[in-house]
Amino acid sequence: MKRMLVLLLGMAGLLTGCERAMHDMYDQPKYKPGAPSPLFGNGSAARHPPDGTLPAADGEFAGTSSGRMGRVSAPAPLPADGHPYPITMALLQRGRERYDIYCAACHGLTGAGNGMVVQRGFPAPLSYLDARLVQASDADLERSIRDGYGVMYPFADRVDAHDRWAIVAYIRALQLSQRAPAEQLQAQDRQALDARKTP
Ligand code: HEC
Repeated sequence: MKRMLVLLLGMAGLLTGCERAMHDMYDQPKYKPGAPSPLFGNGSAARHPPDGTLPAADGEFAGTSSGRMGRVSAPAPLPADGHPYPITMALLQRGRERYDIYCAACHGLTGAGNGMVVQRGFPAPLSYLDARLVQASDADLERSIRDGYGVMYPFADRVDAHDRWAIVAYIRALQLSQRAPAEQLQAQDRQALDARKTP
């Protein structure tokens, strides 16, 4: 019992040590953006951006250290629904490549929501086969990638609009690959499927 108490006290000590270290990081001497400073002619620690600079993000998360970028300030006009690019093999292949890089770690290579990061404890996303995501519009999916969704951080700063739409097209391919009606298969695929059916 006594040993347990010592252990618990020790752990509490470690935790407060950690908390203090974190605070040191927040409290270290530094300039916050826009704070007054004699450094520059404009009297501010931040320089004025050059004319014509476009903000990458705004809103409450912009510029925070947690990786959240806030809203992208000037989003490309969204089509009400449907996909703004012709669905070509090249687009799908680009989507697959980007998906495997940026998304598969959590969503899994087939979109089942069981990627390696999830297997190591990150909250599991819905499978892309979930009825809600099958029914979601292309624009809904693109917006979730761009702005983030729930615990998923936004990707606007690393996946540009074209690639987001390429990924959306590939997500549709993943959905179709696992729930296509057999009648819609091409003849040779149908034959291959029938050949594999156990009698
Ligand atoms: C770090 C893990 C992680 C990565 C990387 C990730 N996601 Fe997610 N994603 C999640 C989680 C978790 C959710 C569910 C969030 C919630 O419900 O709070 C989610 C939700 C979604 C949704 C569903 C939104 C809805 O309406 O339910 C879509 C679509 C999506 N992600 C697409 C993507 C795409 C595309 C990529 C790659 C560009 C990606 N995600 C990268 C973890 C991740």
